[in-house]
This record gives sequence, structure tokens and C-alpha cells, in this order.
Amino acid sequence: MLTDSGNISIAADKLWEMFKITPDDLSKLKVIEGSVYLTRKCNLSCQYCKIIKTQFDLELGLEEWKEALMIMESLGIRFVNIAGGEPTVLPWIGELIRFINEETSMEYSIVSNSTFKDSRLDELVNAGLKTYVASIDVLGGEDNGLGHLKKSSSGIKMLHRLKEKGVPNLCGNIVITACNIDNVMDVVEYLNDNGFWTNICPIIWGKGDKWEKTEIMDNSYRLTEAHEEKMSLISERLIQMKKAGALILPTEEYLRNMPSLGVRLNWKCFNGGIPPRLIVDADGAVMDCINVRGKTSKQFNIFDFSNKAAYKEYMKAWKDNVAECSGCYWSTMYTAKERQKMLGQMKAKLY
Ligand SMILES: C[S@@+](CC[C@H](N)C(=O)[O-])C[C@H]1O[C@@H](n2cnc3c(N)ncnc32)[C@H](O)[C@@H]1O
Ligand code: SF4
Repeated sequence: MLTDSGNISIAADKLWEMFKITPDDLSKLKVIEGSVYLTRKCNLSCQYCKIIKTQFDLELGLEEWKEALMIMESLGIRFVNIAGGEPTVLPWIGELIRFINEETSMEYSIVSNSTFKDSRLDELVNAGLKTYVASIDVLGGEDNGLGHLKKSSSGIKMLHRLKEKGVPNLCGNIVITACNIDNVMDVVEYLNDNGFWTNICPIIWGKGDKWEKTEIMDNSYRLTEAHEEKMSLISERLIQMKKAGALILPTEEYLRNMPSLGVRLNWKCFNGGIPPRLIVDADGAVMDCINVRGKTSKQFNIFDFSNKAAYKEYMKAWKDNVAECSGCYWSTMYTAKERQKMLGQMKAKLY
């Protein structure tokens, strides 16, 4: 097992261990993580959310998603992050979770605003839900609309309920904003003390679905260089906690660079040359990245990839498609790239 500098021995990389990668896979795989925006619809409207600003007349249905997931698996994807919009507004979400558990060998997580009814909770648990991520974004600040507070308090309650029901992997996702920067560590400590993982990410304040129409977020939410000192304190504390065995999901390197890259949003996912994640939108289009539909969405749909030649073309086209991007710092994207780096290191040790 590698040491912490190789980043896979510590408990925080447990999800990685679940990938079940064999040395043979390693020699063939490139992209091993995927994200799906199951829907762009949502029952809330968080101030900082760009996803819901794009809506489609037609979204994929259950059977199409099953097919899309089978294609993703056939391409070598081992882990799927199920997001939206709000995935739990879909009446068939439980059935999709059951399908992934029973018909694929992929691991997954589902991220939700936790505002769904008990009947949906039962459906998810009965389907064998393994990994649930609750958004716990806002606990204080000036502009906490009711929706945001609702999402955080529902998230915490939901984690406890799912723990009681035996769901094994439970995590809170915290978006650091100018509003909650003073109390994020209280939330991390609360999560850790209760046996829940923390994923954490600075607010992504730029970029919309179109490069040319970059929308800069409201200053009451976005982080600026004035927040760098507070971000450094958060970063140091998180690393300290992680080293002491706390349930902190992002890699140490990600946390270390968060004060600078997380404020400036100039980390580039494309420096590695291949997409860190395969991202499929609610209409089946393949996206440039988690933030932007971009040129890729006009060229490729997940169903094109039942033909492996189309997947190869996407791999080639992607780097040019994203070349204009000034960057971001989503923890999910970074972690995906880190996992590829880990694969490289592991492969080097094995061969
Ligand atoms: C887009 S939401 C979709 C799932 C679900 N509706 C929810 O809110 O958890 C996925 C995660 O992205 C986070 N998020 C939304 N907008 C963001 C932004 N501008 N920067 C960073 N994270 C953001 C949300 O708080 C949530 O934890
Ligand atoms: S709950 Fe999730 S999808 Fe809905 S508006 Fe908030 S961040 Fe966006």
C-alpha cells in the first residue's frame, strides 16, 4: 500500500479502495470516474447554483439512464457521482439505484439536498443505497434564504436517519462561501464527531454554460483574495484533522492549495490531457466539464459511445474544446485527477 504522499493508504481514500481496479484494468483504463446530471430540475433554488439555470424540454428517462450507465461501465468507468438538479425529484430514483447495485459493478454516490419525503427515503434504503452525500452548505451569514437553511438542516437530519437505517457511506458536502466561511469548521467537526465524511469545495463563482457569458457571482457569496487568510486557517486545520484520522475526503494536496486556487479559480483540469471525469448531462449530452456543457455537448452524446471509435474521438477533441477555460477548483474534479495520478503511481509499482 502506498504512503500518504502516494495518497491511497489513508482512510480518506476509502472510496478509491472500492473501485476494485485490477492490474489488468490499470493497463487499459484512462477515465475511471463519471458524473451524471440525472435532471436539471430542482425543488429549491440556491443563490449560487448554476445548474438549474439551464433546463431542457426533454430529459433522459429511467430506461435511457440504465443504458447510458451500461455504456459508461463498458468504457471503464468504475465510480459514478449521481447529481443534478435534485436527483430525488425523479420518481424512479430508487429503481435506478437498485439497477446500479444489481446490474453493474460500479460504485456510486448520490448527492442531494435532503428535502425528500419519507417514502423516497424508504425507496432509496430498500434499493440498497450505499453512499449518500448531503449538501450542508449554509449555517449562517446575511443572505441565507430559507431554502438554503432548509437544505443544511435537512442534510444533517438525513445523515442521522440514514445512519440509523444502516447506509454505510455517509458524507456532508460543504461549499465554502463568503457567508459561511466563519463557521465551516464547526460543521466539519460536527460531521466528523458523528462519524460522517466531509467533502469540501470553495464556491465556484464564475462561468456559466457558455464561455462567452461568464457570470460572476454576487459579492456577498463569492470568495475574494480578502478571504485568503481565513481560507489558509481552514486549510491548515483540515490537513491537521485529516492527518489525525478525521473523515475528510479531499486529498491533502487539494486542501493545501485551496486558499490560493480556491479563491482565484485558476486550476486547470486539462493539464493532464485527458478528461478527469466523463460527465453526462440530463439530456444525454457529454459535457466539457462539471461546470460547462461547451463544445463537447454539441459533438457527443453518451449513446454515441456504444461505438468505441466515437469515445476515442471525444478523448482527442476534449482538450481543444476546453482550452479557453481560465480554470476552476471543484474538489470532485480535482479528486478525479488525483485518482488518475494514483493509478499511474500504482501502475508504475506493479509493472
Ligand atoms: C449542484 S448540486 C446537485 C445535488 C443537489 N441538488 C444538492 O444540492 O446537493 C451538487 C453540489 O454542488 C454544490 N454547488 C452548487 N453550486 C455550487 C457552486 N457554485 N460552487 C460550488 N459548489 C456548488 C451544491 O451545494 C451541492 O452540494
Ligand atoms: S438544491 Fe442543489 S440543484 Fe437545487 S438549486 Fe440548490 S444546489 Fe442547485
